Formats: sequence, structure tokens, C-alpha cells
Amino acid sequence: MRLSVIGCGYLGAVHAAAMASIGHEVVGIDIDERKIATLAAGEAPFFEPGLSEILADGIASGRLTFTTDFAAAAGAAVHFVGVGTPQVKGGYAADLTYVNAAVDALLPHLSEGDIVAGKSTVPVGTAASLAPRITAAGATLVWNPEFLREGFAVQDTVDPDRLVAGVPAGPDGERATGILREVYHPSIAKGTPFIVTDYATAELVKVSANAFLATKISFINAMAEIAEVAGADVTMLADAIGHDVRIGRRFLGAGIGFGGGCLPKDIRAFSARAEELGRGESVAFLREVDDINMRRRERAVELVVQGLGGSVHGKKVTVLGAAFKPYSDDTRDSPGLDVAVRLHGLGAVVSLTDPEAIDNARRQHPQLTYVADRDEALTGADAVVLVTEWDEYRRDLTPEHAASLAAGRVVVDGRNAFDPAAWRAAGWTYYGMGRP
Ligand code: UGA
Repeated sequence: MRLSVIGCGYLGAVHAAAMASIGHEVVGIDIDERKIATLAAGEAPFFEPGLSEILADGIASGRLTFTTDFAAAAGAAVHFVGVGTPQVKGGYAADLTYVNAAVDALLPHLSEGDIVAGKSTVPVGTAASLAPRITAAGATLVWNPEFLREGFAVQDTVDPDRLVAGVPAGPDGERATGILREVYHPSIAKGTPFIVTDYATAELVKVSANAFLATKISFINAMAEIAEVAGADVTMLADAIGHDVRIGRRFLGAGIGFGGGCLPKDIRAFSARAEELGRGESVAFLREVDDINMRRRERAVELVVQGLGGSVHGKKVTVLGAAFKPYSDDTRDSPGLDVAVRLHGLGAVVSLTDPEAIDNARRQHPQLTYVADRDEALTGADAVVLVTEWDEYRRDLTPEHAASLAAGRVVVDGRNAFDPAAWRAAGWTYYGMGRP
């Protein structure tokens, strides 16, 4: 099928390349000329495992093209809209400027019978408000939220847990459903659940999934706070409650909390939208989820201060990680980067390293010192803080090797990813998050 994908960021670029990889003819469109030039050259504009390969294959096959010209969307049967919906400046709500602009730019190129498939994460009610403009152009709007995780984006797009489509009632909706089934045929044929619903449910599925995940993380971080005053170990607690299949161990990783371009802004936008709908109290707990999450960053800072005897001023602190999670170079709302900035603010001489995210981190916070090489970053450190559990640190860095480089013996494990006994045996004073 011929498809267009509007917006070529973390979501759109992966979607375009993944759709080409399953045999569709895809044009990716974005207003950012540099990003389009990079993608057209077959290079990924950001770090995402497996993306470069499918981009290069798609371009070589002739099925995948990229352009800044919206006219190239003409002739596609389905137009996916995957532009960003960031948090508005000075508020909690989602900024729909890019969604509206993408729809406006697409409208003149739509033909009778085209499908416009919204993928961006939007406040409930957005699809209903966009639909009249799209219907007037003879096309049908569906809402087809995306659940990909950065770091696993290609796999999640080609082989998702589930597909969700919010469609209008009646024959247009039935026809659109049939077309989406064709688009996702390889995955549906493998048994991926395909849930067809109305616009509002589809939009809410997306935000409630992220709200649930964020709540799960803050729940375990709240238990970490209690564990800290009670002398308990939150990681063992998580293991024990996680054995209950109704609870499950995944997303019970206590530490410095969640960040990235999705969870933080999505729970805030959800709160804002619920307020608009007169049901703010229904998701009032999301404010608490956000507060717990932010407190854990400060807790990591406190532990470094404590470890260094009450002040970090003038001390060299090596921060391992800048990305909001491993296998990503994304530093948007990165908890680890925030910890580094707070330590810098307290007068620490912060040396920050990350295998992929240094360029993005430097653009956001040029005041920090970035060191590409892990061992060079560790050399002479008074304290070491793990904030992103890359394999390079979690698995490959032994406490003995770290001790051979660092000047001090204080380690703060912001992700509970190190083995405390091993670090202590090598002479380190180990601080975990919610562990004695
Ligand atoms: C999240 C969702 O997991 C995806 O399903 C969703 O599609 C995506 O947002 C989106 O809306 O686009 P992502 O932002 O890539 O995906 O990252 P996650 O894997 O959810 O991790 C988010 C944050 O939570 C990271 O900072 C991670 O370190 C943290 N986290 C995760 C924990 O602190 N503890 C855990 O146990 C798990």
C-alpha cells in the first residue's frame, strides 16, 4: 500500500521505516530539512537500535522516501500523523500546535476515500474536533495510538502487543477498519490483538496506559521512601510482590524515577484534560505520582551529599549516564541529567559520561563537563553516581576496576542496578535507592 507519515521524530521515522520493512511504499514528511536530509541519506537522526538497518534497506528498495514537500502525500491511501505533542510552556496541557499544523498542511493533498490515522498522543476529544475538517476533504479520520518504547521502537512497531483503532461509527468507520487491517496485516496474521473502538476510547487507551506505567513506577518509589525510613530493601520487596501475577515485576524498578518525552508530559496533560472535563479529582493521584517521581531525583542528590560528608562543593562527581533510559540517546526530561545539574548547582565538579546521549545532553546543559570515555570520566572521582543503567556500567563496570580509577569510594546507585555486596567488598560505601 502507499502510505505517508507526517512527522519524522522518534515515532514517525520509526513508523515510516517499519512500514516500508513490511512491504509498503512509504513517504516520510517533516518540516525539519536537516532531519529529512539525514533520513533520506539512510541515516537515523537519533540512536534507536535496528533503525539504521531498516532505513537503509527501505531506501535501497525504493519503497521508502523522505521529503519536506507535503504534496508528496498525495496518492497515499493512509496518512499517519505522528508529530509531537509537547507540554505547553507555563502549563500542564499538551500543545497541539504541531498536530493542527500537520492536518492543515495535509488537507489540500487529500483525496476522496483517504484515511488519516492519528498516532500522536493527544488529549481525549482531539480526534472528534479534527474530524470535521478531514471529513470535509472526503477522507476519514481514525485514531491509531502508538505504544512503542524507545530503545525497542522497531520491534514494538513491527510486532506490537496490541493495535488499537478509534474509528467513526458507520460505513466510513468499517471501511477504514478494513484498510488498517491491510496495513497491519503481517502483525494481525501473527495474532496481534486488533481492538476497534471509538475515538475517545482509543485516545484514552494511550494516555491511561502511560498513566498506569508511571503510577507503577511511583508506587515502588513510594515504597522505597518507606523502606528508607524502615530499614527495608525495596528491591527484595519488588521481587516478592512481583511474583504475584496480578502485580507483576516489570516496571517495579525503584530508583531516580521516570523521564523521557512521554510519561512525564503525558500524565500532566491527562491531569489538565481531566480538569477541563470537570473530573480533575479522578486523576488527582497523578499529581502525587509526579511529586514522588521528582522527589527521587533529590534523594539521589542527598545521598551523594551524605556520602561526601555533607558537601559536594569542589568535589569531583562522576555521573554515569545522561539518557533518560538505556538504549536511547534521548535526554528529554532525563532524571539522571537533572541529578547531574542539581549536583553542579551545589558546586560539585560534575563529569558526565554516556555511550550515546552526550551531544543531546550538552545542547541542553552546556555548563556540565562531558567525557565520552567512561574510564576517563571515572578517573579521580570522589563519588560515582549511576543514573542510566547502560550495560557498559551495570554489567561491564566492576567495582574493582572503578576503584582503580576513582579517588574516593562513594557510589550512589540511582537505578539499583549494581550488586551492593560486590561494591562493598571492593571497599566502596554503597548507597542504593530504598535499600539499607
Ligand atoms: C513509554 C511507554 O513505556 C510506551 O509504552 C509508550 O509508547 C511511550 O512511553 C510513548 O508514549 O511514546 P518510553 O518513554 O520509551 O515509553 O520509556 P519507558 O520504557 O516507559 O521508560 C520511561 C522511564 O521510566 C525511564 O526513565 C525509565 O528509566 C523509567 N523506569 C522504567 C523506571 O524508573 N523504573 C522501571 O521499573 C521502569
